[in-house]
Amino acid sequence: MNSSHIIIIDFESQYTKLIAKLVRKENVYCEVYHYTQLHTISKKITGIICSGSYHSVLSENSPKIDWEKYNNIPILTICYSTQLFAHYKGANIIKSQNREFGKTEGIIIRNHPLWNNIENLDTLWMSHNDSIQFEKNDINILAKTKTNKVVAFEDNNVISLLFHPEVSHTCHGKKIVHNFLKICKCSFDWTPKNICIESIKNIKNKIGTDKVIMAVSGGVDSTVAATLIHKSIGKQLQCVLVNNGLMRENEIENVKKIYEKIGLNIVIIEASFFFIKKLKNITEPEKKRKIIGHAFIDTFTNYVDGKNIQWLGQGTIYPDVIESNYGKHTIKSHHNVGGLPENLSFKLIEPLRNLFKDEVRELGKELQIPDCILARHPFPGPGLGIRIIGSITLDKIKMLQKADQIYISLLRKHNLYDKIWQAGAILLPIKSVGVMGDCRTYGATIALRAVTSIDGMTADVYPIPYDVLIEISTSIVNSVPGINRVVYDITTKPPSTIEWE
Ligand code: XMP
Repeated sequence: MNSSHIIIIDFESQYTKLIAKLVRKENVYCEVYHYTQLHTISKKITGIICSGSYHSVLSENSPKIDWEKYNNIPILTICYSTQLFAHYKGANIIKSQNREFGKTEGIIIRNHPLWNNIENLDTLWMSHNDSIQFEKNDINILAKTKTNKVVAFEDNNVISLLFHPEVSHTCHGKKIVHNFLKICKCSFDWTPKNICIESIKNIKNKIGTDKVIMAVSGGVDSTVAATLIHKSIGKQLQCVLVNNGLMRENEIENVKKIYEKIGLNIVIIEASFFFIKKLKNITEPEKKRKIIGHAFIDTFTNYVDGKNIQWLGQGTIYPDVIESNYGKHTIKSHHNVGGLPENLSFKLIEPLRNLFKDEVRELGKELQIPDCILARHPFPGPGLGIRIIGSITLDKIKMLQKADQIYISLLRKHNLYDKIWQAGAILLPIKSVGVMGDCRTYGATIALRAVTSIDGMTADVYPIPYDVLIEISTSIVNSVPGINRVVYDITTKPPSTIEWE
């Protein structure tokens, strides 16, 4: 099982993750590699999909790959990578006056397995600047637009598209990707059930008779990872929940109860003072993240001292890896990836490192993890530390915990919690003037964030009804001393991110 391995080569396209998700939805395993990281691929490759890009093939430093290296593997190229391939084959690439952008209609020119179960291409989504000048009879054309422009062609092992099958505007994109996977002879066996069986087998092999401590937070990712490890090695696993002082109100007690109920043994390590002291006067978000990451590791190292524990389990998921350490661009150092020191004293086991959030939830269902865990909103490992903008103090933590608790419980009261993918309050370093009971106040501001998403990679604003927003605002200002203003964040991701730091 997991016998197929599709590689997605990312030329820095905004749509790369959509390609990965489409492939995985077909129950085929795939990995995304930045075009500069191809030397790190170690598994046998079943097929390759090359992304689009905002780059132009005509610019000097445009991304390139060595096509010769992959001449025995089926390849699907999309937009930029199609032009790159055509350029490599000797075609002329011409700088267009007009950018080709938006919807167009396609016509199938030649029968091909890529068009299986597709009668007509209908709407295609294009987005590119340059155009390819094809020599007559030079290529094997598979489809054209109604205005006679080539939109798909084939050359030996390479099928090339000049439109994006991965975006929802392209009518038969899903089918096209499915057909390409069939051309690659993929086995379509990457199902939650098989992922569980395979992970449990791998963990058993890896750990043997060693012992593991698993860092849990009570969230979906660490609970699913802990359950997988527990199913693999049973009592050799000890879950630890670190009280870093940056958790939600009553979180430690709640998580302890839930874990005891689902049969995972859990130890609470009290480390609030240690974390808060290290964060004193730190305002820069990346610095905070790194300090918190290191403080976790120091806490685990102290805990295992003299205990004969060789492994640290973490609930790291794929977006943590992508956002922390990907090509040249770090977006945010996720505490469990970017914050790790180089010389760790234990080995890492991260069974979810290749999965997206929605896939982790699917796995959780397969493992029969209760809904009270699976339906929880994600909460970042660095906790309220990255929701207090600017320096962190005990007073600010208490203020934010209270505001957050009011916010979340009102969302639950109005049956909105389950409609929202993630919600949280953020304490801003902004003071403003207010008036309460005829007296002037000069207090802090809380921002409310609520988003819908599938995997946290992109997010839309959830439109909380106006009257509920006002109830939340009134309740926070009336109940949390020091706060006299509440604002609502209405930014999508991108261009924003979900957390403010
Ligand atoms: P952003 O803010 O990057 O967040 O849009 C995407 C999702 O990841 C969560 N997040 C984290 N989770 N450790 C985590 O375990 C982290 O360091 C971290 N930073 C962000 C965030 O809450 C959202 O769900």
